[in-house]
Amino acid sequence: PSLSIKDNVIEASLPTGQSVAVNLYGATVTSWKVNGKEHLFVSEKAHLDGSKPIRGGIPLVFPVFGPPPQNHDTSSLPQHGFARNSNWEFLGKSAFEAPGSNSDQSHMNVKLDFGLSHSMLTDEFRQMWPHEFGLVYSVTLTKDTLETALQVRNDGQKNFEFQVLMHTYLKVADISDVRVKGLESKTYIDKTLQATSHTESSPALAITQETDRVYQNLDPAVPVIVASADDKPLFSITREALSDVVVWNPWIEKAKGMADFGPDEAYKNMICVEAGSVSGWQTLEAGDTWEGGQSIQARL
Ligand code: BG6
Repeated sequence: PSLSIKDNVIEASLPTGQSVAVNLYGATVTSWKVNGKEHLFVSEKAHLDGSKPIRGGIPLVFPVFGPPPQNHDTSSLPQHGFARNSNWEFLGKSAFEAPGSNSDQSHMNVKLDFGLSHSMLTDEFRQMWPHEFGLVYSVTLTKDTLETALQVRNDGQKNFEFQVLMHTYLKVADISDVRVKGLESKTYIDKTLQATSHTESSPALAITQETDRVYQNLDPAVPVIVASADDKPLFSITREALSDVVVWNPWIEKAKGMADFGPDEAYKNMICVEAGSVSGWQTLEAGDTWEGGQSIQARL
């Protein structure tokens, strides 16, 4: 596997034609290509200079999802926390053979590790969330998957609570030709309908308007599949220790309202399927480590 570090972006590629790029700002994965085909959506108007979270790719949401609740430890943090707007450090690359392969170079995988800790935050964020913590975020590229895994360490003397979400913007050719499978019979909170609770009735959810739903209590091992209308799988997402999945598409009006989203019509070329733990809170005791992640398989 080859590695390049340019400006704030770490790029790795495999001899078999896959590549991944990660911006140290937010440790945001901004590109995942398989044989030259890009699988992640990044807005043309995304800020890549560290002035704003990157609109696209895989921003990491930590330690709070959405606007923080009142009277909580996270109350003074911005929407979606600080991980996506902090500068991470690159901890290094490891290359390893895919399990089950021989010594053939064509079966190599590559893992990139990134770190963020309390001491690396801005003074402002440190005051807003005064916990000693350490995050290690691992981005692994294989022949047909992209895996992102997060370790959260409590280095302090007190427990803390957190939420986490991998806010993945998948690139699709046309949202009208997309169905999301694996959600049937699951309870979801509809954020477009005053956060009311509903049960999904569709085995293959079509996106036909603004959609912002938090599906709850999913079995992480059962894939959520993004398929075409004629049922060809495009992406298959399995999770570990992440039992919520957010499905988000801003649709035209919200797209127009976001200064960093563009062109307006680009809402047709994306769907966010976001693996997370956001319905409740994970409590992490002093000295303990939590780990969770997702594996996205490109099925094209
Ligand atoms: C989703 C939320 O995860 O992120 C939406 O469910 C939100 O409510 C969207 O609009 C984008 O958030 P932001 O902060 O990146 O504009």
